[in-house]
Amino acid sequence: MASEVTRRRFLGAAGTIAAVGAGTATGLGADSAEAAEAKKIKILGICGSPRQGKTTATALQACLAAAKEVADCIETELLELAGLNINGAVAAGIELPPGQTDDFPALLPKLTDPALGGVIMGTPVYFGSMTSLCKAFLERCMELRKTDAWANKAAGVLAVGGARNGGQELTIQSVQSALFCHQMLLVGDGKPTGHRGGTLWSGCPGGITADEFGMSTAANLGRRVAEVALLARG
Ligand SMILES: Cc1cc2nc3c(=O)[nH]c(=O)nc-3n(C[C@H](O)[C@H](O)[C@H](O)COP(=O)(O)O)c2cc1C
Repeated sequence: MASEVTRRRFLGAAGTIAAVGAGTATGLGADSAEAAEAKKIKILGICGSPRQGKTTATALQACLAAAKEVADCIETELLELAGLNINGAVAAGIELPPGQTDDFPALLPKLTDPALGGVIMGTPVYFGSMTSLCKAFLERCMELRKTDAWANKAAGVLAVGGARNGGQELTIQSVQSALFCHQMLLVGDGKPTGHRGGTLWSGCPGGITADEFGMSTAANLGRRVAEVALLARG
């Protein structure tokens, strides 16, 4: 009952925002279009796998699809870190060789977009923790703390392991630890699964999409991040 009430409250907020969008479609003018634009809430999925378009990206896509269903004003995007050169040591003041840069600064416009309402980090499980690429990215995100760019944004984490119990929850916790430092609003996967985040098994017979439980945690996480992003936006 309690969760039904909470859900109705979220959907009520979403309905108000959707109504602004509908006004635009019926030609209420530039002001309404601007108001609708201002109401947009972006949820950014960030994939920390060094392999582009593989199982972690698949899990994040399912998560983002569920987020989008929460309200018309939710927009989603998947950012894959695969192939990017991100040097974590820069966060510690180590300078890159003269004339060299890496790929992190180019990500800043997406990471600091004022429309950003939520972030979902996804990483494969590597020896019970996140990948080095995911870690380097999170280290460089230290820069976002200077302006509190991620403060009060909703955040959730999913982890994909080759084994059913390969360390997904440990991995989620290690990513969450970094996100807490940004004063983010951390959520787990919403009910009915309702635990620490998306816990997926890529070694499932039939592949990751056949992992019904894991895929449902991804969807419940996406929905929950979107709901809290809506709530935080007021
Ligand atoms: C270096 C390395 C370490 C890994 N360690 C684990 C592990 O501790 N537990 C686990 O379940 N899977 C482990 N895996 C398997 C990956 O988590 C799994 O294949 C995952 O689906 C890869 O994600 P991707 O397809 O997005 O690259 C490991 C894979 C690699 C390459």
